[in-house]
Amino acid sequence: MGTMPNFLSRNIALAAAALLLAVPALAQEKVLNLYSSRHYQTDEALYSGFSKATGIKINRIEGGEDALIERVRNEGERSPADVLITVDAGRLWRAEQLGMFQPVKSPVLDSRIPASLREPGGLWFGFSTRARLIAYNKAKVKPGEIQTYEELADPKWKGRVCMRSSTNIYNLSLLGALIDHLGEEKAQAWAKGVRANLAVEPKGGDSDQLKAVAAGECDVTVSNQYYYARLLRSQKPDEKQAGERIGIVFPNQKTWGTHVNISGAGVLKHAPNREAAVRFLEYLASDEAQRYFADGNNEWPAVPSVKIDNPVLSQLGDFKRDTLNVSVLGKNQPNSQKIYDRVAWK
Ligand SMILES: [Fe+2]
Repeated sequence: MGTMPNFLSRNIALAAAALLLAVPALAQEKVLNLYSSRHYQTDEALYSGFSKATGIKINRIEGGEDALIERVRNEGERSPADVLITVDAGRLWRAEQLGMFQPVKSPVLDSRIPASLREPGGLWFGFSTRARLIAYNKAKVKPGEIQTYEELADPKWKGRVCMRSSTNIYNLSLLGALIDHLGEEKAQAWAKGVRANLAVEPKGGDSDQLKAVAAGECDVTVSNQYYYARLLRSQKPDEKQAGERIGIVFPNQKTWGTHVNISGAGVLKHAPNREAAVRFLEYLASDEAQRYFADGNNEWPAVPSVKIDNPVLSQLGDFKRDTLNVSVLGKNQPNSQKIYDRVAWK
């Protein structure tokens, strides 16, 4: 060894040390256990992008939104889940109420995700946004004839409104926003007024409301934008035609802005791979991931600087968004439910 140059012997020693360190690391592969209610084609690219960038393998469990929350709850302290991805702030709030999340303090997330789109304590974060639009039948309603959520309660629309059930989280969150902006009393008068205007009893999902409007069963409804986008981008001629019969309004542009909600995620309290979980959330806020995450469901990225190339969303254009913190939608949820029950919305 005496003849070996100094730098070389040092390098061999370093290499040997690195090899020793590498053995336990290899034995214990880095993983992330993801519980997700998403199931879009673009998700594959999203997850492989993360694994490529970090070397962390993703184990995915997919399920319905409420079923996943129930599963984490049943698994308790032994839950292998690191991250829960689900839709609607009202649903993330339910998981939060069950004590499922742990706070994350991340300068990356705090700078990338607007404050109104994340839980103030870092329990969960929005990664894409959806807007609750008013949709109308173009043959029966003139453009500009209805411009606000409040107008849906106007007797002018008696027998002309379709709405889904009050147990639906989207309508609970919408009323949660109205409670904040109008106060509880006016919010209840609104719910009563809309109830009185219904053309048919509440039934079906957002797509069903849109199809009912297109078919002339009713003239106006509310729906998240991606259901409208799905109709317009559908390969089925009847769905495409239904989409083309519908006009869209971004409500409340002259007042507090259109109600926006999120798809979001949080790190679970008993996450076995906490560090990987935080890295995953930070990855979701990256330009690349934001595009995949939003476009997979015709949503808008949560990070304002990220632009996506989605034909239907481009056609809808820009709009004024409600800046109410989305966590308020959850906090108002019990009141929303009470109000819907009081007016017998169903
Ligand atoms: Fe949805």
